[in-house]
Amino acid sequence: RVGKRRITVTGTGYLGATHAACMAELGFEVLGMDVDAEKIGVLASGRSPFFEPGLNEVLARNVASGRLRFTTDPAELAAFGGEGAVHFLCVNTPQSAGSDAADLRYLNLAVEALAPHLTESCVVVGKSTVPVGTAAAVADRLRELAPAAVETAWNPEFLREGHAVADTLHPDRLVVGVESAEAEQALRDVYASLLEDGVPFLTMDLATSELVKTAANSFLATKISFINAMAEVCEAADADVVLLAQALRLDPRIGTRFLEPGLGFGGACLPKDIRGFAARSRELGVGQALAFLHEVDGINLRRRARAVTLARELCGGSLEGRRVAVWGAAFKPDSDDVRDSPSLAVADALAGEGALVTVYDPEARDNAAKYLPHLGFADSAREAARDAQVVVHATEWPEFREIDPVEAAGWVAQPHLVDCRNTLDLAAWRGAGWTVAALGRPAAAR
Ligand code: UDX
Repeated sequence: RVGKRRITVTGTGYLGATHAACMAELGFEVLGMDVDAEKIGVLASGRSPFFEPGLNEVLARNVASGRLRFTTDPAELAAFGGEGAVHFLCVNTPQSAGSDAADLRYLNLAVEALAPHLTESCVVVGKSTVPVGTAAAVADRLRELAPAAVETAWNPEFLREGHAVADTLHPDRLVVGVESAEAEQALRDVYASLLEDGVPFLTMDLATSELVKTAANSFLATKISFINAMAEVCEAADADVVLLAQALRLDPRIGTRFLEPGLGFGGACLPKDIRGFAARSRELGVGQALAFLHEVDGINLRRRARAVTLARELCGGSLEGRRVAVWGAAFKPDSDDVRDSPSLAVADALAGEGALVTVYDPEARDNAAKYLPHLGFADSAREAARDAQVVVHATEWPEFREIDPVEAAGWVAQPHLVDCRNTLDLAAWRGAGWTVAALGRPAAAR
């Protein structure tokens, strides 16, 4: 069956580029489309425009075999796909400027560019994260604009950056919102090999499928903010959130994952998704049901402010003119993504208080420098730390755990460390003469 249906993917960001590459990997003929000609040029040469472990290999293999092609022309999508095609929409739905709601302009543009060309029956499948009700509106618009009978489906994506390929080829579950048996069958065909591997395939109405995604991300964000709220209490009570989290994890009802206390969540999804979800609930007249997400957001942002306070305290009450090294700029390790990165927000806030900030990140330097060109950037943790009065460990890249605290004490002006991620061996750092402050941990070593 593979190869019978053709697949197109509109939008080649993290989600779309990975999805297109993985669909080709499953054996389909795939055409990816994006309005960004530079990005398409890179993808067409079989390389990823962003850092994502394993993606370059999948892209290179499938571009070389000819199964995976790219274009900037939306008119090509319909002709390429033909009858029975599955057209995935993977455009981004960022937070609107000036409000919490999701900005659907790229999705609407994608639908309007594709629809008039759809002269043969096919299925359009949204994967973008959207406010509930969007899929039904897309279905109406397709009925209005497309010459042929077009089925609409929604198939939310749960991939994590840094694990995008594995999460796409081995998902926990496939969630599919459909209005018709034809659309369901098309998605069963697309994911046939994953279904053979036993991946659960859940079909539901369009609205519920949209909600699964925002509910999942809200739950994950709530878990992180829960443990970070406990960190705030620990700080006030001189208790240790790391030990607290360890004990909580042993209760299987609570679970082991997403309870890492630290600088909180960032990235292109969790922050804007909880805001967009709360905004949509207000439109639906049930704002109170999700009012707690405002607290989840607030707890998350307070961690950033707390990290700055700890750095200021270590500098004797003022950051003015102080040299500060920030280790890590990406919103999490194994990513070069700095969108809503807590680490960069802290770096920026430190600079805002007059500190001379030098940032080091193994992958995200270029992206970070684009966002915050007024900061200094270094090529190594050591270079960033040179003559620093305080070092802020902000993104938990594994290489920072390998740093020898005795050696590092020789790099800096004053051995002061703020550990924002709780992944460093604080006893070893203190043993090497460092004064250490860490989020959610007691002020002094026990
Ligand atoms: C997230 C969801 O996990 C994914 O299912 C969805 O499709 C997109 O959003 P992603 O943004 O790639 O994926 O990152 P994820 O690995 O989930 O981490 C999110 C943020 O939470 C990061 O900033 C991370 O540092 C932080 N985090 C995660 C914590 O602070 N503590 C934890 O215990 C876990």
